[in-house]
Amino acid sequence: MTDHYAVFGNPIAHSKSPLIHRAFAEQTAQDMGYEAILAAREGFTEALEQFKAAGGRGANVTLPFKEEAYRYATQRTTRAEQAGAVNTLRFDGLETLGDNTDGVGLVQDLQVNLNFALGGQSILLLGAGGAARGVIGPLLAACPARLFIANRTAHKAHALATRFKTLYAPLSPLFPLSPSTRIDSGSFAETQGQTFDLILNATSASLENTCPSLPSRVFAAGSLAYDMMYGQGETAFLAMAKAQGAARLADGLGMLVEQAAEAFFVWRGVRPSSSALLHRLRTQ
Ligand code: ATR
Repeated sequence: MTDHYAVFGNPIAHSKSPLIHRAFAEQTAQDMGYEAILAAREGFTEALEQFKAAGGRGANVTLPFKEEAYRYATQRTTRAEQAGAVNTLRFDGLETLGDNTDGVGLVQDLQVNLNFALGGQSILLLGAGGAARGVIGPLLAACPARLFIANRTAHKAHALATRFKTLYAPLSPLFPLSPSTRIDSGSFAETQGQTFDLILNATSASLENTCPSLPSRVFAAGSLAYDMMYGQGETAFLAMAKAQGAARLADGLGMLVEQAAEAFFVWRGVRPSSSALLHRLRTQ
């Protein structure tokens, strides 16, 4: 019997998730279907319940429903708790497991696909909304030397830094923080005079085709600029990074494929290979 999965969002028409998961299913010979479902802004739970009643086995959740999915889940993984948001649901009888695979997807794309080892690096994370919060835990777990969270509205960056400093501590059994990792926060302007090896854009500015205004020279020699968004052509952030001297540029397509591979593993217990698919998506 075919098992059914779906991605819920609003908007959802341009989602690549059906293409990705169908390719993974074919590659791993799993009998499953995957569709995109547009849920009304106030109708997420209803759409999900309908899908579940019709035999759905699990779901991906994208904007703007990740916090609602967090509340909907009856059990949550540690990484979902850290993120305060859920992008993967698995229906286990009466229980619903909520997970968040965005952060591990990003780290996998950085460390494996882009060969950028995070240990000992200086990271600048731009943004303090849901997208930023979702990746901080897995970034810290990779033991960078420093994480600076910068946001247009500085107090949100401070709040996020405080949350993770409280959660993570050296010698904590659940959230060990490398004693050599420093967490800072502030406005974009407060990064003035500092340089970073990795600059991650987790703001939604690219949606409006703009980018955070950063002081010049934050890009260290050999630095990687990474936009968690992806789209047709270069994003405004990547164009700015190139002009300011970033040595390498990457968009969020790799993260999208890797978070999907992890979600697929959560549902099916089988880990698909992502490299061939990523190559195909980049060249088509
Ligand atoms: P998401 O879930 O995509 O993170 P969000 O929670 O609404 O969405 O957060 C959006 C983030 O992008 C915030 O950090 C926001 O900054 P503010 O907290 O100051 O609003 C940031 N952002 C959105 N548009 C921006 C822009 N044009 N320039 C800089 N930052 C921007």
